Amino acid sequence: MLAHLLLIIIVPGTWTVLEALPPLPTGPHALHIFLSLAFQNFTMVDILAWSVLDDIVLAALRKYTWEIIYLQPWVYPSLSVAEWEYLQDLFKIYVHNFILLLNRDAEKYHEPYPFVYQSMTGCDLYPNGSYTKFYRLGYNGQDLITFDVDKGLWEKQSRENVATRIEMDFNSFTGFSATLQELLNFTCVDHMKKFILVGKEDLQRQVKPMAVVFARVPGPVNLLLVCHVTGFYPRPVRVDWLRDGQEVPPGPELNSTLTLPNADLTYQLHSFLAVAPHDGHSYACRVQHSSLGGRSLLVPWVPERPKTQHIMWIFIVIILITVVAIAGARWWRRRRN
Ligand SMILES: *[C@@H]1O[C@H](CO)[C@@H](O)[C@H](O)[C@H]1NC(C)=O
Ligand SMILES: *[C@@H]1O[C@H](CO)[C@@H](O)[C@H](O)[C@H]1NC(C)=O
Ligand SMILES: *[C@@H]1O[C@H](CO)[C@@H](O)[C@H](O)[C@H]1NC(C)=O
Ligand SMILES: *[C@@H]1O[C@H](CO)[C@@H](O)[C@H](O)[C@H]1NC(C)=O
Repeated sequence: MLAHLLLIIIVPGTWTVLEALPPLPTGPHALHIFLSLAFQNFTMVDILAWSVLDDIVLAALRKYTWEIIYLQPWVYPSLSVAEWEYLQDLFKIYVHNFILLLNRDAEKYHEPYPFVYQSMTGCDLYPNGSYTKFYRLGYNGQDLITFDVDKGLWEKQSRENVATRIEMDFNSFTGFSATLQELLNFTCVDHMKKFILVGKEDLQRQVKPMAVVFARVPGPVNLLLVCHVTGFYPRPVRVDWLRDGQEVPPGPELNSTLTLPNADLTYQLHSFLAVAPHDGHSYACRVQHSSLGGRSLLVPWVPERPKTQHIMWIFIVIILITVVAIAGARWWRRRRN
């Protein structure tokens, strides 16, 4: 925030009103559940489970008791007590049976411990109202099987024997498949909509980006301008470069990192523009973000004055002083003799 203010104060005209910016698309929403089962041996399994709405962690599973921990104040009130109890019971049964089945398989087929199963499931809701749903199970970091929600069938994703076996096992639990179908077909989207409604203040949080522009000199004939944009929320952002006020079109001289998370649930991004030194153009970085209310953040690049001139003058002065001192000392010595 401070750097943000500094920018406005130090660089007058940083804020410009751009006429009729297209509104940034309101992001789709996603409710995903992650489960990790790390089997140390037949009796020892480390379990981690958590649930995420967009980029906010809603809930996790308490170790050993497998009780749900609510990680946002609005999560528990979003659903009824009965709905939470149902989910809690379902989860306990499901994790318990998973461990039994996977241990039995490992024992029977002499799969070596330790190994890890990871599952990811959930639904994605699009602005047009349609949604998709999925369930994926992985083994030691490789895709193993996925669930075709519409057909209610498990399909292997690997040629390993373990994939064939687990696919067969899961397809024999028709009760589990039917429950999962209903959960993914209806419950997931229904609950997601309730969470979105109750958590909208956190989800619609708007945090303004701050931006700085500086140059890197990767070689004698090129200059890389860097625009570092950080501290913004939500994630969608648009960063462009302006050359003499005109948007630089996409091309090989443009490059950007992905939008990466900061530790405080904001995001950051670096955008690069390769230019020739002293090309006589002016450059600025333009940031568009929903928090800016239709305005954009414009940060001009201010080339540093070449330092070599200063250094040359300092050299000349030092040499002059030395010459004068030596001459003075000689003159003084000659007078004394
Ligand atoms: C299983 O692993 C845990 C922790 O690594 C260890 O304490 C325990 O003795 C092991 N049990 C068996 C039966 O090997
Ligand atoms: C809704 O949007 C999604 C994602 O953009 C797209 O895949 C889907 O086809 C759209 N559905 C309809 C009915 O327009
Ligand atoms: C889930 O929805 C699909 C269509 O999208 C339908 O074919 C299937 O029968 C539904 N399953 C359940 C369990 O409701
Ligand atoms: C773009 O940036 C990436 C990562 O910083 C780098 O690996 C890649 O070489 C860059 N591409 C160009 C064309 O500069």
